[in-house]
Amino acid sequence: MTTLTTILDGLRSNAGTMAEAGRSRNLGVLRDMLGPAFRGLVLRAGKAEGTVGVRAHHEATFDFGYGGQWPELARLYDAAKQSQWDGARALDWSVDVVPDDPERALISDDILPLAEIPAFQRLSAREQNVQRHAMLAWLLSQFLHGEQGALFAACQVTESVGSLDAKLYGSTQVVDEGRHVEVFHRYLTTKLGRTYQINDNLYVVVDAIMRDARWDLKFLGMQIMIEGLALGAFGTLRNATQEPLLKELLRNVITDEARHVHFGVVSLERMYREELTERERRDREDWAFELALLMRNRFLAHEFYDEYYAPIMKRAEWDKRLLESRFMARFRSTMFRRIIPNLRRIGLLTARVRPHYAALGLLAYENDRAAPELEAKDLLA
Ligand SMILES: [Fe+2]
Ligand SMILES: [Fe+2]
Repeated sequence: MTTLTTILDGLRSNAGTMAEAGRSRNLGVLRDMLGPAFRGLVLRAGKAEGTVGVRAHHEATFDFGYGGQWPELARLYDAAKQSQWDGARALDWSVDVVPDDPERALISDDILPLAEIPAFQRLSAREQNVQRHAMLAWLLSQFLHGEQGALFAACQVTESVGSLDAKLYGSTQVVDEGRHVEVFHRYLTTKLGRTYQINDNLYVVVDAIMRDARWDLKFLGMQIMIEGLALGAFGTLRNATQEPLLKELLRNVITDEARHVHFGVVSLERMYREELTERERRDREDWAFELALLMRNRFLAHEFYDEYYAPIMKRAEWDKRLLESRFMARFRSTMFRRIIPNLRRIGLLTARVRPHYAALGLLAYENDRAAPELEAKDLLA
């Protein structure tokens, strides 16, 4: 039952994000985001125990022409079938993960915001290790929840997209995402020994994608925005850990995700260039930007803050420190590196919205190669 306390807690906890929402000033987009934001930020639906229902509104589509029109997707489908792996057998789960092994650091301070926080610097080496370990569990938990969202999005996209070429490819993505849920969950529960709940901002994004009836927004939200960010984050994390099982797990997942982002770009490129009215394009531009804001705020690690820092500093101070940290500056440029070139490629990084991204410092890699010009080996380099 929703109580007034839940609502007030939600408002207090997410005031920063709510104040930022609506930068695009697009009323239609704000209306679309209102329901997801209310459920995620105010009611905090993602923090419920057990199962949470999300009502979908899309239409499933048959293609009795059976496709054959889209050779690039046929090639991608073929590559996906050849690249399947078994999460239980392809990885060496016998590896012992030791949180404070000096030879094989679980996670380096370079990719954590903690080292820049004075209260962290004052902790003993042991306590610092506990927090590093918890921060990694927080981060991987968000990947896990994102993967569960990706599993449903892949199912929905497979149902709702019109072309059978896209449906066949989508069927492989469903299996991929199921495997990603499996391996992240297994790593968290058997190697790190703990999981965190879904971040409220991430919940809002996933809720918005699930409920929207338009198939292209499901592609845009999941395949371009969430998976693009995940690709950047997985790559950064893979370089920042010396733990062999996690490194190998991420290598395998990155290889799959590269195909998913490629699929999203190929599917949207043609439609966005040829079929959108000016007004529809503006809505997509603004919708993507609001998602980018939510995703940036997701990395403020509030679930981690609640556990370790709520007693010693105000949430506003925590947010300010993180947003101004060197970590966050690097995060903005490297993790959005896999999103911005793709937005440009599908025609959504127009002169009208570039200043919004520039103000957030997200344009550093805008001229990098987009997904169809990248192979898995480039992403793993
Ligand atoms: Fe995935
Ligand atoms: Fe994916």
